[in-house]
Amino acid sequence: MSLTRRRLFQRLAAVNAAPVSGEWVSARGREAAVAEGRTARGQMAASAGTNVIRIASNENPLGPGQRVLDVIVGKFPEAGRYPFNAQQQEPELVKAIAGKQGVKVENITLGAGSGEILTNAVRAFTSTSKPLATPWPTFEAPRDTAQKVGTPVRAIALDGQLRVDIDKLVEAATGAGLVFFCNPNNPTATVHGAPAVADFVKRVRAASPDTVILIDEAYHDYVTDPAYQSAMELAKSTPKVFVARTFSKAYGMAGMRVGYGVGDPAVIKELNRYRMPYSISLPAIAASVAALHDQAHIDAERQRNTDVKAFTVRAFEQMGVKATDSQANFLFLNLQRPAAAFRDACRAAGVMVGRDFPPYEKTHCRVSIGTMDEMERAVAVFKKVLGSNTTTAAGRRGQ
Ligand SMILES: Cc1ncc(COP(=O)(O)O)c(C=O)c1O
Repeated sequence: MSLTRRRLFQRLAAVNAAPVSGEWVSARGREAAVAEGRTARGQMAASAGTNVIRIASNENPLGPGQRVLDVIVGKFPEAGRYPFNAQQQEPELVKAIAGKQGVKVENITLGAGSGEILTNAVRAFTSTSKPLATPWPTFEAPRDTAQKVGTPVRAIALDGQLRVDIDKLVEAATGAGLVFFCNPNNPTATVHGAPAVADFVKRVRAASPDTVILIDEAYHDYVTDPAYQSAMELAKSTPKVFVARTFSKAYGMAGMRVGYGVGDPAVIKELNRYRMPYSISLPAIAASVAALHDQAHIDAERQRNTDVKAFTVRAFEQMGVKATDSQANFLFLNLQRPAAAFRDACRAAGVMVGRDFPPYEKTHCRVSIGTMDEMERAVAVFKKVLGSNTTTAAGRRGQ
């Protein structure tokens, strides 16, 4: 007898359905993985239905943990409901975040990815007379939004170590509506330690008390530099400051689209005015609550990333290619050749690497960290591509 839809959903949601739930949530690629006898979670890379190695977008290649996957599947029967009619609603996620970060609910804003929050911040705090100050290159969303709404942009070059240039950013922040500080910075993966960030905030506050300070910590969970500390404590205690976080990176939920901001209640209130109503779906709300309670998964993901990153850095060094000191789940590599040529050659061999990041597109490329298996296969491709007629200067010297 064939299953009715209702009975199928009941099966998916049942606790004892856990062993098959990962498979059921799948699209073709995951089914194919199951057909080949592989675990569902380990095969997220195949979920786009191809064998391409996708190391272009700084995703967690394993996706969410099994517990979170099961929660997502368990929410399928409620899919007909609006998020405000669901069993778990946004206030529950806000409370869970407040508990984790030790703040009140009025210190928290949500978004469909932290990208929504960055966009809301530009719309809320900048105008034609209140520019956006941003390092460059960095995550583009604030700059892109500013350009769309006609806000002037003060874009500040990075320092010699490809870190955010704090002195110049303080200067640019003076009189700005919003200053964006990405720590670790995407695409360069570099980080500033806690004293430097605290000093930055203090100087901006003194020089320009009306400027809102947005510290983006999308890659917070991947940092291993002991000098680093989250700016969360600063955001809790300093007017005009807020921190943005995302479930898209270490939490492995980029496709679920959830992010949050923590900070000054007055800033948060203003940000909430710009939110798109119900932008976070019902499974995404439930998945985020579950993910916040699964710290072991984050710890394991950090360790996995650290190990695979070390392997990849060593492999590139053997090819004569240096990376910046990466404090994230990607490398910014000095290939000494245009990224486009490298990218096209890699893509032809089934490996997708990062886009151009001007003004470094003639020399540098960003490569995200996949699984160990993916990186071993990708390294074989990199060796071939870099060993072809475009060898690096170091390679030509036989180093
Ligand atoms: C630094 C940084 N901030 C924010 C985002 C936005 O991520 P999401 O909207 O998926 O939370 C990204 C995405 O890559 C990022 O690199």
